[in-house]
Formats: sequence, structure tokens, C-alpha cells
Amino acid sequence: MILFLSIFYSVLSKLKTGNCFSIKKRKFAVHFCDITMLDKVKELIGEVKAFKATTKEEVETFRIKYLGSKGLLKELFKEFKNVDASMRKDFGQALNNLKNAATEKVNALNNAFENTTEENHIYGDLTKPSEPISLGSRHPISIVKNQIIDVFNRIGFTVSEGPEIEDDWHNFSALNLPEHHPAREMQDTFFIEKNPDVLLRTHTSSVQVRYMENNEPPIRTISPGRVFRNEDISARAHCIFHQVEGLYIDTDVSFADLKQTLLYFTKEMFGKSKIRLRPSYFPFTEPSAEVDIYWGLETEVDYKITKGTGWLEIMGCGMVDPNVLKNCGIDPEKYSGYAFGMGIERIAMLLYQIPDIRMFYENDVRFLEQFKSVL
Ligand code: DAH
Repeated sequence: MILFLSIFYSVLSKLKTGNCFSIKKRKFAVHFCDITMLDKVKELIGEVKAFKATTKEEVETFRIKYLGSKGLLKELFKEFKNVDASMRKDFGQALNNLKNAATEKVNALNNAFENTTEENHIYGDLTKPSEPISLGSRHPISIVKNQIIDVFNRIGFTVSEGPEIEDDWHNFSALNLPEHHPAREMQDTFFIEKNPDVLLRTHTSSVQVRYMENNEPPIRTISPGRVFRNEDISARAHCIFHQVEGLYIDTDVSFADLKQTLLYFTKEMFGKSKIRLRPSYFPFTEPSAEVDIYWGLETEVDYKITKGTGWLEIMGCGMVDPNVLKNCGIDPEKYSGYAFGMGIERIAMLLYQIPDIRMFYENDVRFLEQFKSVL
């Protein structure tokens, strides 16, 4: 009760001792009385913001009223010293807001009138050069991925995608990598759950399993996507990277078809027409091979990237193992096919001479802006 009474008296005394003043001009008059004063300024801000004009003269009258040398703001600022100390901060802020609002309004209206041609009322000067639009750029991984898709689209391959979180079957077992198979060690895996295993896919070959399970031959598809391996991060390796898997299944598909497709790809993608296939091992293909392209030894860079041999390894490939076909519900007596897989970062690094794989994931605009000219 005592507290209530004391608050009541303090408010009352403020009102009684309140400092009142008024501003009178020929055309307008505003009266202020300290507590209501702040509200009044706020009201004026509202009026200023809502102000509209149909002629330049109206804008000028408005400007003189608020911002003129004998205008409202001048007078209000003069009265600032009479304002109760406790309210000065709020009042000062409100006055500044009023000033800014009035200045902005006058500028905006003047601009609008200047840009309106008298004769046809078209807004703006149409001959003016336009504002520069700041264009973004595609990420180099997207650029290379799209180029690879383009090349394979032209020979009838579709694009298919699959989940990044996989089960054991699609990432390993169906691909002829049963439990305890030593080749599993080659792909250090991030497990999300064990028994049954849920993991981050270690390669996009998992998508070929899903595709075969859900589609009948003939199959021609490529599957680009992100893959994950528990690798130490360095200039050459990362725990996240991107691959494109390729799969072709039909009757009477031979190794010659595979080789011809790869040759077509390397010509289109790199402008190189010499490849070699080195015998290799992948559990899901038999026979398997590594594909090298002849890059040449013309420049110092060629020497560097090919380690002086002129040859560059770009992907793995092979004829799909009959066991894999069987696992995915395709009759290996009737159908055969080939598959291949490549790393997108590796190709992008080659094409753009990017020295460190980590640059792809740092989101440094100085790096990314360099790809503006490539679509
Ligand atoms: N999955 C392999 C890897 O991640 C790449 C690969 C090699 C895919 C040969 C294939 C293939 O389809 O035939 O290393």
C-alpha cells in the first residue's frame, strides 16, 4: 500500500511540475506537455511515415514544415533543454527518429518525382544503366558432376540417386562383400548403428543395387552422390567426397562395350583419346580394371600430375559379377553388364588444377568465385 501511494504521488508531482510549451507557426500549432510530449513526437513520426504527395510543391511544404530552418524539428530540438532529465534520453531518441523519418520521406518523394517523366508517367529513367546484379557461381563439384551427367545423358544413361544412410545389404553384402570379407577394410566406414548395421554409404555402388532391385534390364544409369569414409583429412583425402557410379545391363554386353563407352567418356570430358585398362580387383566386378587416360607430357604441370608417366588413373570398372546380378534379382544367365565408378573431386582437381581437396569444403568465396565463368 505504501509503495502504491508513493508511486501515485511521484506521478502526480511530475504532472504538476510538468513543463508545458507550444510551437505556433502560421499554418500549424503543436502543444506539448512533458509526458504527452513523447507520445506527440511518436504520433508525428506516424504522420510523417504515412505522408503522401501528389505534387512536388506538396513535398516542399512538407519539408519546410518539418525540416525547414524554422520548422518543427528545429523548435523541438530547442525545447530539448526544458525536458525533464528522466525523459531526455527517450525524447532525444524520438526526435532523431522523427528527423530521420522526415528526411527519408522527403528524399524518397523527391526521387520518385524526378524519375517520373512528365509526358508519359513512366517510372524511372529507362535509359539508365541497370544496377549490377551480383551473380553467384556453381560449386566446382556441381560443375563437374553436371558435365559428367551431360556426357552420359547423350548416350542414353539416366540419372538415379539413393540414400546416403545405408544398410549393410546395399552398401556391402549385395555387392559381393559378405561380412568379414577383407575388402570391407578398404573402405573405412562410419557406422550409425551396429547389428543390424546402419552406416553412411562408402560408395555410390549401393545405388546400383537399389536400381537393379527396382528396375528391369535394359538398364543404363549413372548415380552421382556424396559418400563418406573414415579417412584422415589431408590435401588428397577427405572423409566426405563425391562419386559417380555407372551401370549398364542388357543382353550380350561385353568388355568391348565397356571400353568403348569409357573411351567416349574420356574424349568428351577431357579431350583425350587414349586410355588403358589395368587389371585390378573389385568384389562386385569380374574381371575388374583401373582406367588410366593418357594425359600427355607436354607441360611441367603434366609432369607433376602424372608423376612423369603421362598416365592418370581416373576410375575403376569391370563386368558386373553374376553374383551381384543374382542378389539384385536379375538373371545372370540372360543378362550381363558393366559398371564403373569415379571420384568427382579427383576429376575437378585435375581439370581446374586445384591443389588441395579441402578447398572444396571450406566455402571460401575467394575460391568459389573463380568458377563464375563456368556454367
Ligand atoms: N565403388 C568403388 C569405390 O568406391 C568404385 C567402383 C569401382 C565402382 C569399380 C564400380 C566399379 O562400379 O565397377 O572404390
